[in-house]
Amino acid sequence: MNITFLGGGNMASALIGGMIERGFEAASILVVDIDAASRERLHARFGVRARAAPEDGAAMEGGALVLAVKPQQMKTALAPLAGTLRDTLVISIAAGLRLADLGRWLGKEGAPHTRLVRCMPNTPALIGAGVTGMYAAPGVDAAGRETAERILAAAGSIIWVDDEARLDAVTGVSGSGPAYVFHFIEALEAAALAHGFDAAAARRLAIDTVLGAARLAAASEDPPSALREKVTSKGGATAAALASLAAAGWGGALIDAVAAAAARSRELGEEFGQD
Ligand SMILES: NC(=O)c1ccc[n+]([C@@H]2O[C@H](COP(=O)([O-])OP(=O)(O)OC[C@H]3O[C@@H](n4cnc5c(N)ncnc54)[C@H](OP(=O)(O)O)[C@@H]3O)[C@@H](O)[C@H]2O)c1
Repeated sequence: MNITFLGGGNMASALIGGMIERGFEAASILVVDIDAASRERLHARFGVRARAAPEDGAAMEGGALVLAVKPQQMKTALAPLAGTLRDTLVISIAAGLRLADLGRWLGKEGAPHTRLVRCMPNTPALIGAGVTGMYAAPGVDAAGRETAERILAAAGSIIWVDDEARLDAVTGVSGSGPAYVFHFIEALEAAALAHGFDAAAARRLAIDTVLGAARLAAASEDPPSALREKVTSKGGATAAALASLAAAGWGGALIDAVAAAAARSRELGEEFGQD
């Protein structure tokens, strides 16, 4: 199957690298990017074909088109394809943009394109360690879902949602989530510095604690709550720390943060999708 990427930036590069590692043929991948340097870089690095403008919709028939330009570039980038696609599976990784808007921009007057999958990856996708929330429009069959899944699996793990609106919640949890974790690492690092560690040691302690705890949680059959209880002896040091965090309203603050991100994601979807 031929796969065309519209946009050959950071995210497309990460996906293409992961796809080639997983056995996709470089010759089956075409990248469309207006930037000559991006085209040359992708061709040199992965051996994929690259062009400045999309092929005609007929050339993409039976294949998949991955939309990987910035949300604010999308409407212009899709204009040459409007009304030319038939059964091409379209997979958008653009944050916030809704399928109704993409389908309208890709379709003909009164006949939107309907074979659409929308994905919300996160930045660890850049090293193949992301998690992507995915939603398929009703016009996508099982084979289409499988194709989208194989492409996005190159960026890490995936979960399907059965309602497009839930992708705003995915944005709040995992899309923006790496920023919460970086913020946590920064705070732990600052605490280590305050206790007299040098900068390198403080960073090592903070990053390796998060990495190790996440790997332990991923490898364990126990839920995170049980793992937490195992390291919290009654009257001990961890119990004192957790009591301090609870008093500061830590858990509630994170729940509010996710809600704020999801609400902003909804607003951005409306803004980006305007004609
Ligand atoms: N980076 C992430 O971790 C991440 C996470 C979640 C979702 N996403 C989504 O992934 C998408 C891509 O993000 P990115 O970080 O990879 O962006 P990026 O690095 O800016 O890549 C986009 C590329 O598309 C090119 N482009 C712009 N207009 C075009 C057009 N009309 N036709 C063809 N190519 C065009 C851009 O060229 P110029 O640079 O010359 O404009 C750029 O090379 C975004 O929609 C973003 O919301 C990214």
